[in-house]
Amino acid sequence: KRKIAVLTSGGDSAGMNACVRAVVKYGIIRGCEVYVVREGYEGLVRGNVDAPKRKVAFNDSNNDKHHHGDDSAEDKLINNLRFGDGNLLKEGEGDAIEHPGGRSLKGRYIIRVGWDDVRAWFAEGGTLIGTARSAAFRTKEGRLAAANNLITEGIDSIVVCGGDGSLTGADVFRAEWPSLVNELRQSNTITSEQAERYAHLNIAGTVGSIDNDMSMTDITIGAYTALHRICESIDNINSTAFSHSRAFVVEVMGRHCGWLALMAGVSAGADFIFIPERPPVADPWEDDMCKNIQNHRDIGKRKTIVIVAEGAIDANLNPIRAEYVKDVLTERLGLDTRVTCLGHTQRGGRPCAYDRLLPTMQGVEAVDALLESTPESPSYMIAIHENKISRVPLVEAVAQTRAVAKAISEKDFERAMSYRDPEFRE
Ligand code: F6P
Repeated sequence: KRKIAVLTSGGDSAGMNACVRAVVKYGIIRGCEVYVVREGYEGLVRGNVDAPKRKVAFNDSNNDKHHHGDDSAEDKLINNLRFGDGNLLKEGEGDAIEHPGGRSLKGRYIIRVGWDDVRAWFAEGGTLIGTARSAAFRTKEGRLAAANNLITEGIDSIVVCGGDGSLTGADVFRAEWPSLVNELRQSNTITSEQAERYAHLNIAGTVGSIDNDMSMTDITIGAYTALHRICESIDNINSTAFSHSRAFVVEVMGRHCGWLALMAGVSAGADFIFIPERPPVADPWEDDMCKNIQNHRDIGKRKTIVIVAEGAIDANLNPIRAEYVKDVLTERLGLDTRVTCLGHTQRGGRPCAYDRLLPTMQGVEAVDALLESTPESPSYMIAIHENKISRVPLVEAVAQTRAVAKAISEKDFERAMSYRDPEFRE
């Protein structure tokens, strides 16, 4: 039986659970054994403590209290997970499906799951299998331990649902895999049969990120839910701003991508928007902003909304901060101005319908991609382009996403925008 695993990595986003659910259910339909990896790449590095003894020494630089065998630290980690909520994964339950009598999840990060484990997960926010920004996986030792853990569990195919950084990590892991296997073989950690059987790692990436900052796909899992949250917040701010005739500077997430800020401005209304990809052209931009906002006031608007993407920059690449924009509005226009930073309210909560559909379709496609992969085929990122689910080479998507940041740093904003276009090829 083919064994496949799914993990979520990087910042959580609404819809990640729907992706896990789709991979689990469709994987089972396709006759696979399906595993979830808890805590993202960190779980791959830690593996299962009851697995055959490893020869690879793993030095947990992330938090040295949480190493294998430290019961109290393990307890703490387990207790931090969300168990016992109706249909959600309960302690021991994942394994109980295939291992009657149940087994504790303690010290187990790679867990076989069954059909019922993921029931109704499409409606849950965040990621129920946990995520982490793993420092250990960024080290060679960490990836060696991860490779050994996968081989020990008999898994040769993984679906990674995460953002740009997580998919970059996946790509590094896939490229390095043959040398990791070789090293494990050389040290007699695995047998030559295992080295032959697990010569290739198959990876499929689905893009889970509220930022919508991945090239070669139109939209990422969680972006519409976050956008919806921002719109609701701005609707709320609008009524209080109107009442007091105030100005509000709203800071939204998106890292180096202005999609959330721009789309929120279009969907909820804004007098001025700052995004990283299109720094204000007017010099000084403060004059231009004030002129626009004064015009709006002159024609009778009682409220002002300025949206600042957290990554917004000016034409010299200096950050534009919400607090500074507030000071400009207060001092130059005499507006009673407040700053609202929406923060993590944008990221959490139940997924909107689209963030249930998209990850479901992409999860299914990811399993198909894994099952159809050959040693020659590239790892795929599952994309959506003009409403059609598609596969694009993971390496290329990662490279183009990196190229956006590079183009911005070189002040070539046109090029930056062209890299965001899914059809763009170098
Ligand atoms: O990438 C998703 C994101 O929410 C960004 O928009 C934001 O910059 C970052 O993650 C926040 O990260 P953290 O939750 O680690 O503070």
